[in-house]
Amino acid sequence: MENKVKAIGVLTSGGDAPGMNPAVRAVTRAALYKGIRVFGIRKGYKGLIERDAVELNVRSVSDIIHRGGTVLYTDRCLEFKEEPGIQKGIAFCKELGIEGLVVIGGDGSFRGARDLSIRGIPCVGIPGTIDNDINSTEYTLGFDTSMNTVVEMVDRIRDTCQSHDRCSVVVVMGNGAGDIALCTGIACGATAVIIPEKPYDIQKDVIDRIIEVRKTGKQHFIIMVAEGIVEKKDREEKIYRFAQDLSHEIESKTGVVTRATILGHVQRGGSPTVRDRVVASQMGYHAVELLSKGIGNRVVVMKDGRITDFDILEALNMPKTFDEELYNIANTISL
Ligand code: F6P
Repeated sequence: MENKVKAIGVLTSGGDAPGMNPAVRAVTRAALYKGIRVFGIRKGYKGLIERDAVELNVRSVSDIIHRGGTVLYTDRCLEFKEEPGIQKGIAFCKELGIEGLVVIGGDGSFRGARDLSIRGIPCVGIPGTIDNDINSTEYTLGFDTSMNTVVEMVDRIRDTCQSHDRCSVVVVMGNGAGDIALCTGIACGATAVIIPEKPYDIQKDVIDRIIEVRKTGKQHFIIMVAEGIVEKKDREEKIYRFAQDLSHEIESKTGVVTRATILGHVQRGGSPTVRDRVVASQMGYHAVELLSKGIGNRVVVMKDGRITDFDILEALNMPKTFDEELYNIANTISL
C-alpha cells in the first residue's frame, strides 16, 4: 500500500527511560524501509520550537540499541503547552515537510501529541517512562530495566543488612505509581511495601510486622517505599524526611538498627533489558505502520500482552487499574 506520508519526525520527551533509543531506532528503520524520510527532533518539543532537528539514515541509529538515555536528548517543555509554542512547532514541521510525528514519553508528552494532531500534524505516542504509570498500557518502556537495576542495588543493600542484622528503608521512583516498589518489593523479599495506591499504617504494617517476623528468626529487613506516597511538590525533600523519620521510628520501636537509602536517578540509566529492547522495537514499528497510513492521534499500548493502539484522548482518560493480587502476594509471602 502506498504511504500517505513522505516524511516523519521522532522525538523523546519527559524523563529519559532505557528503551527510548531502541524505539528511536525501530521508528527510523521501519520508516526508511517504507521509503519515508525521518527527522530526529532534539530535546523533545523544545526542538520543534527551537528548530533543532537532524535527518536520520539507517546508520544514524546504529549502535544505540544497547544504550540507556536517549540520543535525541529530552526535555519537559512548558512553552509547548501554550498556543504560540504549538504554532512554532507546526511551522517547523511544515518547513521540514514532516507529515507525522512519533512522540516517545509519558502522559504529559501525549497531551502535546494530541494538540498537534488536532491541528493537522498526525502524531503517535509511544509510552516511555520507567514509572509504568500510564493507565492505557500494561507496559511502559524502561520499567523492566529500572526494576532490574533496583533489584541489583537492593541485593547489595541486603548483603550488608544481613551481615549486621539491620533494617533498610529503600525509596524507589515511580512518580505517582507504586509499580516499581511493588514488583521489586516482591522480587527482593521486602518485609513491607509502602505504595501510594494503598493506605498504610506504619505501626501495624511496618513496626508490628518486623516484631512478628523477628520472632520467627529473621534478623534483617528491607522496607520498600514508593516516592509517590508524598505529594509531587518538593518531593525530593519530603521523601528524604519521610525515609529518615521512618528509619528512626523503626529503630526506636523495634531495636533494629535501621538505615535509609534513596536510590534516585541510578534507576533511570543503564542498558535496556531484552524486554525493553523488544517491546520498544514492536512499538516503534507499530507507530510507523499507523503514520504510514496517515493515522494519527493514537497512542501505542500493550494490552493483554499484545501491541495495539488507542485514541490519545481516550487513553489519557482511562482509569488507573491496580493489581490487588500482586499486593496481596507481597503481604503474604514476604516474611
Ligand atoms: O518519570 C520518571 C521519573 O524518574 C520519576 O520516577 C521521578 O519522580 C521523576 O522522573 C524525577 O524527575 P527529575 O529527573 O526531573 O528529578
